[in-house]
Amino acid sequence: MEKNETIIEVNNIKKYFKTRKGLFKAVDDISFSINKGKVYGLVGENGSGKTTTIKMLMGLIKPTFGNVKFNIAGGLTKIYSKIGYVPEKPALYGDMLPLDYLIYMGGLSGMDKDKAINYAQEFLKNFDLDNAIEKKIETFSSGMKQKLLIIQALMHDPEILILDEPTTALDPIGQKQLLNVIKFLSEKKGVTIIISSHHMEELEMIVDYVLIFDAGKIIINSDIESLKKGSSEQLEIKTTNLENVANILRKKFNLQSTTIIDDKIVLSAKGIDKLRKSILETIISSGEELISVHTSRKSLWSVVMEKLKK
Ligand SMILES: Nc1ncnc2c1ncn2[C@@H]1O[C@H](COP(=O)(O)OP(=O)(O)OP(=O)(O)O)[C@@H](O)[C@H]1O
Ligand SMILES: [Mg+2]
Repeated sequence: MEKNETIIEVNNIKKYFKTRKGLFKAVDDISFSINKGKVYGLVGENGSGKTTTIKMLMGLIKPTFGNVKFNIAGGLTKIYSKIGYVPEKPALYGDMLPLDYLIYMGGLSGMDKDKAINYAQEFLKNFDLDNAIEKKIETFSSGMKQKLLIIQALMHDPEILILDEPTTALDPIGQKQLLNVIKFLSEKKGVTIIISSHHMEELEMIVDYVLIFDAGKIIINSDIESLKKGSSEQLEIKTTNLENVANILRKKFNLQSTTIIDDKIVLSAKGIDKLRKSILETIISSGEELISVHTSRKSLWSVVMEKLKK
């Protein structure tokens, strides 16, 4: 596979909705490229424009302005048959049995019936749904429905997988199963993956790039390593009398943040390691007892919050 080959190109898309108060800019002039075989995480607060953007990628709604180009041969029908899509809001056929639904969906993507049956059975087993095979979909729990939607998206060996908050209703085992599938598909099959999620811990494990949405704009588009590198580091300190020590540190050092979290003080600032010695000396000379010190890198979650300045 060629390196950094663009598979989707998004050019200046906007989506404006008419509301009683005038035009609402749900997506406001965003552009980005998706490289083949990479995993992209879409993050941002509720209402920041992730789903609207995904729907424009899927051709479900038309941009008010701008366009989406796919570097896949063939017309639009061919292109969409190569995409697997897990929508944010499930639209399932409640009356159907899971296997029938999957065979039907596979058929829509051009799969022959035998292959669809084999794949469906295999996936139902992998996602622990094989014991629900006799149940109508409408009786499924929300997590079971989400799993079925995921399977539906994976059935036809898609080249691109677009998942809109796919883990929301899943239990920890289901989440792990999905993350493993995503890892496998991207690493072993070169599938291009776009996933929106509010769970940074899980994104951190799978994504190559992060797009941070804020009020209809993409404010950061970065590979995950640089995103983390550019962020501040943390020092976690356990002492006696946390309040007192935190106040002393706040007065003496102008750090980005000095917060008490559970049983420790968490200090964060860029290059905090250089201040480490001086911070520890300050604590010791305050008369409080230093119990432990631990340096950690910020989580993706705190990096994102920092960028959003929340
Ligand atoms: N059909 C519509 N008419 C008017 N406003 C809309 C419409 N669809 C979406 N919006 C608005 O566009 C904004 C972006 O919504 P969107 O669903 O893209 O957010 P999101 O980033 O996916 O949020 P979440 O994390 O909650 O899923 C919201 O303010 C939403 O109310
Ligand atoms: Mg959404």
